[in-house]
Amino acid sequence: MGINRYQTGGTGYFCFRKPFAGRFTPHCIFPVSSSSSASLALTPMLWLLYNQAVTGRERGSIRRNIYFREDIAMEYRIALVRGDGIGPEIVDSAVKVLEAIGEKFGHRFVFTPVLAGGAAIDATGEPLPRETVEICQASDSVLLGAVGGPKWDTLPGNIRPEKALLGLRSALGLYTNLRPARLYPALKDACPLRPDIVEKGFDLLMVRELTGGIYFGDRGRREGKYGPEAWDTEAYSVMEVERIARAAMDAARKRRRRVISIDKANVLETSRLWRETVHRVAEDYPDVTVTDLLVDNAAMQLVRNPAQFDVVVTSNMFGDILSDEASQITGSIGLLPSASLGASKCGLYEPIHGSAPDIAGQNIANPLATILSAAMMLRYAFDLSAEADAIEAAVDLALNEGCRTADIAKPGDVALTTTGMTEAVLARL
Ligand code: IPM
Ligand code: MN
Repeated sequence: MGINRYQTGGTGYFCFRKPFAGRFTPHCIFPVSSSSSASLALTPMLWLLYNQAVTGRERGSIRRNIYFREDIAMEYRIALVRGDGIGPEIVDSAVKVLEAIGEKFGHRFVFTPVLAGGAAIDATGEPLPRETVEICQASDSVLLGAVGGPKWDTLPGNIRPEKALLGLRSALGLYTNLRPARLYPALKDACPLRPDIVEKGFDLLMVRELTGGIYFGDRGRREGKYGPEAWDTEAYSVMEVERIARAAMDAARKRRRRVISIDKANVLETSRLWRETVHRVAEDYPDVTVTDLLVDNAAMQLVRNPAQFDVVVTSNMFGDILSDEASQITGSIGLLPSASLGASKCGLYEPIHGSAPDIAGQNIANPLATILSAAMMLRYAFDLSAEADAIEAAVDLALNEGCRTADIAKPGDVALTTTGMTEAVLARL
């Protein structure tokens, strides 16, 4: 952990940085007036803020790593996985928005394109080249479009494009997947639910465990009682459940302080361990209300009364399925961003939708989920909340003023292209 102070014009910033993949990355930034930036000794207030922002273990190493830098612009290195299908189009949209934000707020975003998924299979024969993992690990964060497509659907499991995504999540240790889903008032017409349910609105945060469970368990093929069979295994350790439960409860503290944990504890042993562990963690969060819901019931409740959900925490596979369901009730899967985080603040940011090969290359995909993922990156990886707010406000405004891509257009609406929607957002930043 280090402290980096830099100044631009009259205002200075103290930038606390922590080592990630061999280099220092922004951790938390506090603006200070130029008069107080003369010496670190003058900043007991900053130490206080800093101590509130980092954990005890991280704090230990700070004094050994204090250094200053002055008069430099903040630079953020972002690895870009354009991927397959609509991936390149929507990532390019988000890059344009980030560049505009950089210009407006005085940051420099440096993008490094890397290959993953089908594009990587075509170029190198493997879905996740080592170089891609290394560049992602050395970056401040990763922005990803989508991977996969029919062209690679018949390849064996270990060289499918999806393997790239799972491999990146695992290599970067991104066990927390945050998938916010809310109903935009302007899009009430696109919501397939009954008007009385739509009227109540909803705003939920799905917290999906991302590096464990059946996605990463043992699997194989074998000769069974009825001939050839296949098997996959779901396994969760207490440690894995504890850390995702904490992530959910921490997130709930910044929202409405309610967590619903979803499992299948009436059948699965992993779910019984999940439930026990979640409740043990909940003892440390007396201010957060934690309840359980069986996954089949949860699937029903999401369409019956989505307003009841604040934070949802669940396993990798249940979270995969329920987040697609949650996206549909917002009106379109083209609207949902996500952040995948690990122990470090740097993570992977991607829309929750796939590569939509049927509409690829036509400039008609909705870029908003990726643009909103870039906003999540600014907020979570770089602590740039004003910049993230600016993007989210521009998206809100574009939707409120009737800008629609084909997926959210009503009959009779003029649908914007991908680039048209991107320009609509840029114009409102
Ligand atoms: C998602 C996707 C991925 C998943 C696939 C592409 C492997 O559906 O991010 O939700 O299942 O996690
Ligand atoms: Mn999915």
